[in-house]
Amino acid sequence: MTTKPTIRPAIAADALQVADVYAEHVRTGVATFDLDPPSARTWEQKISETRRDGWPFLIADLPGGQVAGFAYATQWRPKPGYRHTVEDTIYLSPDVVGQGIGRALLTRLLADCVTAGARQVLAVIADSGQPASLALHRSLGFRESGGSRGWESSSDARSTP
Ligand SMILES: CC(C)(COP(=O)(O)OP(=O)(O)OC[C@H]1O[C@@H](n2cnc3c(N)ncnc32)[C@H](O)[C@@H]1OP(=O)(O)O)[C@@H](O)C(=O)NCCC(=O)NCCS
Repeated sequence: MTTKPTIRPAIAADALQVADVYAEHVRTGVATFDLDPPSARTWEQKISETRRDGWPFLIADLPGGQVAGFAYATQWRPKPGYRHTVEDTIYLSPDVVGQGIGRALLTRLLADCVTAGARQVLAVIADSGQPASLALHRSLGFRESGGSRGWESSSDARSTP
């Protein structure tokens, strides 16, 4: 089944729903590498800082207006030599996975990253049962690198659709 979401830039008022989506993954999985869910205030700052730095922070809305998930990009490392290299982050509400929303959201994020000046996008994916994330990134051109205990996938942003 494919659900067509509306994808738009995040605003401060999205922080509470972003926090809720992310918190569920902190509580139930290991993909986040977090132990405690960040507060809505922390997410409000993250949205603000990401957009201030010129990188996309996107929200996927379902037809009824419910936030289905979010994705954003941040500079990979702070040194200026990394200014064209970003890491992506993407999380959907568990009740809407497997409907094509992640693909739509990440496709738009990669396009917006290119527009914002990214030349390479990295995704750090825990090698512990993240088949959807691995499949999604592979299908959008990311290649696996790194050891068997961790995945550091990258996509040449200039060649993504
Ligand atoms: C990872 C995530 C964003 C993917 O979004 P999604 O909407 O579920 O994925 P889609 O339905 O768009 O499917 C994308 C691709 O992954 C494949 N896929 C989806 N779920 C899969 C699964 N459980 N196992 C294997 N492949 C899967 C689809 O077949 C599709 O492949 P294709 O593009 O070659 O046809 C979403 O599942 C999610 O939020 N997961 C939990 C959090 C997470 O792991 N975030 C990433 C941290 S690195």
